[in-house]
Amino acid sequence: MTPSYGLRGRAAVVTGATRGIGLAVARALADAGARVCVSARDAEGVRRAARELDGVGLAGDVGDPGHPGELTRLCLDSFGRMDILVNNAATNQPYGPLMDADPLVWREAFAVNVEAPLRLVQCAWRGWMREHGGTVVNVCTEGAGHVGPDVGAYGTSKAALLHLTRQLAGELGPRVRVNSVSPGLVRTRMARFVWEPGEAEIARGLPLGRIGEPRDVAGAVLWLCSDAAEWITGADLLVDGGTSVRRARRAT
Ligand SMILES: NC(=O)c1ccc[n+]([C@@H]2O[C@H](COP(=O)([O-])OP(=O)(O)OC[C@H]3O[C@@H](n4cnc5c(N)ncnc54)[C@H](OP(=O)(O)O)[C@@H]3O)[C@@H](O)[C@H]2O)c1
Repeated sequence: MTPSYGLRGRAAVVTGATRGIGLAVARALADAGARVCVSARDAEGVRRAARELDGVGLAGDVGDPGHPGELTRLCLDSFGRMDILVNNAATNQPYGPLMDADPLVWREAFAVNVEAPLRLVQCAWRGWMREHGGTVVNVCTEGAGHVGPDVGAYGTSKAALLHLTRQLAGELGPRVRVNSVSPGLVRTRMARFVWEPGEAEIARGLPLGRIGEPRDVAGAVLWLCSDAAEWITGADLLVDGGTSVRRARRAT
């Protein structure tokens, strides 16, 4: 049974909620009693998720400057409140060496991964949270703490999101808490090219012996959104099966 964590009657917006981590987060919030408002680009996927969760949904690209305002309005018009915002939608493009990166695609990564979360927080703040309070969780990545081949744009934009999380936490307290989760490798479509070719070997190298499932991240987000985390803001919660400490693991 999912503990309610006091979310009954609250309303949540979750971006990128038609599959993977976002859908698992929206499900966990709905199971805990919250009303959910979901978004993603594929309209059929949005309809399906909204129907399954008995919520509402809006199809669109979070990087479109108008989308955050429309999504916020939908949540407020449907539920009369917006207590929770989970900025989950992201892109891992442009993938490859930075010297080959197209500046326009690089800009798109920042529009989706950094600018959209800020716009959504601004809309949530102005429309509900400034007066009534609320909580925000940004989905970053364990990889934002270090560099790696081909992920320069993704890592740089997620590191910016991590900084944005802390800055907003400082600016918006005490009414609004702003935190992030940083997943390690999770079994989703976005990361399939990483886990599918060598899952067993990757899992063996992790202290907890397996790659992540979307529900692993959802549990952490649910907790951060709840009153159980009421004295936590500006924090980043690693949900990575021990990825960041794997160098201490002996080869078996
Ligand atoms: N999986 C991992 O190993 C991993 C690790 C660290 C961090 N993360 C982070 O976890 C979050 C979720 O990723 P995931 O792995 O669950 O990916 P996923 O399974 O590919 O799901 C991505 C979701 O976001 C939506 N989306 C993508 N681009 C969008 C856009 N521009 N506007 C609106 N919606 C958009 C997708 O639907 P549409 O395609 O229909 O838009 C889908 O609902 C991301 O922030 C990612 O960076 C994932």
